[in-house]
Amino acid sequence: MLIVIDNFLTSLELEQYCARLELADWQDGTHSAGGLAAQVKANRQLADNDPVALDLANRLLQKLGQHPVFVSAAIPHKIHQPRFNRYSRGEAYGVHVDAPIMSLPHSNDVLRSDVSATLFLAEPNEYEGGELLIEGQFGAQEVKLAAGDIVVYPSSSLHQVLPVTAGTRQVAILWAQSMIADAQDRSLLFDLDQSIQSLTNSGQVDTAELMRLTAVYHNLVRRWAVV
Ligand code: NI
Repeated sequence: MLIVIDNFLTSLELEQYCARLELADWQDGTHSAGGLAAQVKANRQLADNDPVALDLANRLLQKLGQHPVFVSAAIPHKIHQPRFNRYSRGEAYGVHVDAPIMSLPHSNDVLRSDVSATLFLAEPNEYEGGELLIEGQFGAQEVKLAAGDIVVYPSSSLHQVLPVTAGTRQVAILWAQSMIADAQDRSLLFDLDQSIQSLTNSGQVDTAELMRLTAVYHNLVRRWAVV
């Protein structure tokens, strides 16, 4: 399932991120890709220990952990430090699947990637091409969102970034290990949680019945979660 969160960043935050990224030390992005992925990847990125990357990534992590829709969609156990990427004319990332196990920067720990996310940091009219193409159960979906929006999708999906033909596509990408490893289980929980939220907000439903539904949600999490 592909979940879009609009306006994940405020316009002020977006402005601050872009100003910092403008002056950052962009490096060849092929270094961090392994095996086949390295052969199809052409972009630039900030090193994980770059001070600008670290600072912005920490701000993002804090925000992700508090965002109700992201938390509901990902049920995150661990989140990889977000990485900042740029694609200019002629750059692309051919079809690939994200590595299943990733070393976490600045630690000896590893993460199983269950959930991937891309935060768009350039407006769609600032570049041509550069669509994120995600293959799913019902075919491929093209994603090119407004700056500040984020898309969340299963790490198991084959995906690619189509070539940029003009301008610069700037994004942050991240991966999470979910407490709910199975994408379909996660998707069921997300739908249930979203319905409970909207019923709660409608104020039209009996509280005892809502409590019963909420208990079903929590008990499914208890049954399926691995922590
Ligand atoms: Ni990828």
